[in-house]
Amino acid sequence: MNSHRNRPAISANLDGRHFDLVVLGGGTIGLSAAREVRTRGLSVLVLERDSIGRGASWAAAGMLSPLGEALEPGPFLRFGLRSLELWPTFARALEEEAGIGIEYRECGKLRLAYSEQEEARLRRRLAWALAQGFPADWWEPARVLKDHPGLRPDLRGALYLEQDFRVDNRLLVDALRRACLVRGVELAEGCEAAAIETEGKRARGVRLSNGHRVRADRILVATGAWSGQLGGLPHPLPVRPIRGEMVALRPSTGGVWRAGKPGVAPGVPRVLESERIYLVPRDDGRLLAGATEMDVGFAKGPTVDGVMHVLREATSLVPALEGAQILESWSGFRPGSPDGMPILGEFPAVGDLFLATGHYRNGILLTPATAEAMGRLVADESTTDLPEAFLPDRLF
Ligand code: FAD
Ligand code: GLY
Repeated sequence: MNSHRNRPAISANLDGRHFDLVVLGGGTIGLSAAREVRTRGLSVLVLERDSIGRGASWAAAGMLSPLGEALEPGPFLRFGLRSLELWPTFARALEEEAGIGIEYRECGKLRLAYSEQEEARLRRRLAWALAQGFPADWWEPARVLKDHPGLRPDLRGALYLEQDFRVDNRLLVDALRRACLVRGVELAEGCEAAAIETEGKRARGVRLSNGHRVRADRILVATGAWSGQLGGLPHPLPVRPIRGEMVALRPSTGGVWRAGKPGVAPGVPRVLESERIYLVPRDDGRLLAGATEMDVGFAKGPTVDGVMHVLREATSLVPALEGAQILESWSGFRPGSPDGMPILGEFPAVGDLFLATGHYRNGILLTPATAEAMGRLVADESTTDLPEAFLPDRLF
């Protein structure tokens, strides 16, 4: 296994080569599924149009937030919680395999209420969370402000979600890339899949935009926000890009947050979120503020408007951030589906063609559960892990 460790990603001539599985898209979803299937002994190629892991998976904030993102109990929450349950083992195994730390932190999240309506919405969420047996609590303002003295003080309280974690998603894609190589997955960068090729209603290969053809027994589409552009299908996939813009800040020392406790990173102890903004700490003291949600096609960001919005909301929540240094701003395209649910399973009209896309706001959270379910589906032909609400049939 170790002999693969330093093998670079390839972009050599793939024309005419055959693989048991070809994965389209080298984000967290494609890479983690490729790694999972490779473990079962199949030959696997990942085709990535640009550089591995520079799509939404790179642009994300890295929150692992099933309860924070679910509007109600249901299939999304169940799948998100399954994924959260898998995260500790997934993170440990990945770090060991790749030799890259991914900053997985079981930090918790506070959803802050500044108005009566926000408080009512959060208290409703608390009621169903407790009714379902999840560890959640209501924190009065004094308790929130004690730990987070930089917050605007006219707070009405906050919903504390214990099972809400974070990971450094950029380190995650680096680690997945490396782990794929370690396991013997072939990675081809700068290779755009133009169309699926079929024979007798079964997927049998991929035509690249340079005209080359790769043959495959099975194909997994994990092209994120670009999934709707793939050719060769009876219907285009109903995935559309939802742009998100973010800013990384370095708070000035003094006055914003308390000092760290032993074993806890200094700065913000947990993820903070209002209805308009979230602030996600990194161990090195950076604070990621995000994110906008814009349905503007593939119009590139970050835009002045988007960055101003994020900064306005961040400084409204934590006034002392006005003195923070702006380190970076960026944008990415979330893969949005018509009903906001992931699209996971076999494509209805074409055999041996599988979809793992549409993860919208939660592809980082859902990476381990998606890899688990798609690994079983693609390699073992077992559908038992797939929630019905995510099956592609619902959309065609
Ligand atoms: P991507 O990472 O976009 O990967 C798709 C890959 O496919 C890309 O590398 C692309 O170049 C490649 N590709 C496209 N077309 C082709 C082709 N024809 N041939 C070959 N390759 C192709 N999720 C969370 O869980 N927590 C968060 O905190 C969070 N925050 C977010 C914040 C922002 C600002 C954004 C934009 C997203 C956020 N998300 C978050 C969502 C998460 O990033 C996505 O759901 C997830 O990254 C989707 O992963 P993916 O692998 O499907 O897509
Ligand atoms: N999950 C956070 C975002 O998509 O912005």
